[in-house]
Amino acid sequence: MSNLHQFLFGIYPYIAVTIFLLASLIRFDREQYSWKSDSSQLLYRGQLRLGNILFHIGILGLFFGHLVGLLTPVVVWDTLGVSHGLKQMVAMVAGGVMGVTCLAGLLILMHRRFSNIRLRVNSSWRDKLVLVWLLLTVVLGLSTIFVSAEHLDGEEMLALMNWAQHLVTLRGDAAGFIVDASGVFKLHLLSGMTVFVIFPFTRLVHAWSGFGAVTYLGRAWQLVRPRK
Ligand code: HEM
Repeated sequence: MSNLHQFLFGIYPYIAVTIFLLASLIRFDREQYSWKSDSSQLLYRGQLRLGNILFHIGILGLFFGHLVGLLTPVVVWDTLGVSHGLKQMVAMVAGGVMGVTCLAGLLILMHRRFSNIRLRVNSSWRDKLVLVWLLLTVVLGLSTIFVSAEHLDGEEMLALMNWAQHLVTLRGDAAGFIVDASGVFKLHLLSGMTVFVIFPFTRLVHAWSGFGAVTYLGRAWQLVRPRK
């Protein structure tokens, strides 16, 4: 295993997570007024509803799909009697459906942001970078389906699961599992990890609040007038 491989897949993941958590915390503490999704609805309503809904269904499906798919211990699937091949097939189909949904939404959002003059001049380079980077990541993710289709035994997926699980359990040997993974997978992993690096510096921070809003379900009533 080369030093570069060890750095990119054994050390960079921790750098990315540290920047993600620390920079999010610092921005939340210091830059509250910039902490928003920065809706463009008032500038131009066209295509926003369709693009935004498709994009968010897709990206949230992909997020939770990756979380469950990568981090559920292999022993759980084995105990449930789910073969590695079946697990890979489910990942390919579910990831494919969510990936295409996300891609369709993203292309609509990009089309409106880049073609409408009012929107374009009111978009920062960060707004554009987010869309372009997510597009790159989703396209690379969808491309891995074609690689996976060439070997349906689930072994490469198993290597990726081991990589992710050894990373989160802080074992130093994670990168070794994916030395032989195909290049498309490696590029997808790198672009995916980089999403976490750019996250705190862009409008993406609103996703924290989106998830945080779930706590509203259990919060105390807000009293707007005194009881008599
Ligand atoms: C957690 C739940 C989430 C909620 C409630 C949420 C909500 C929103 C809202 C209200 C907007 C503004 C739409 C408008 O222009 O009016 C938005 C935009 C956006 N969201 Fe989310 N979001 C969530 C998660 C995410 C995630 C996980 C990502 C990607 C990692 C994401 C990426 C984006 C992007 C890129 C835009 C800008 C789209 C554009 O107008 O170009 N969101 N989101």
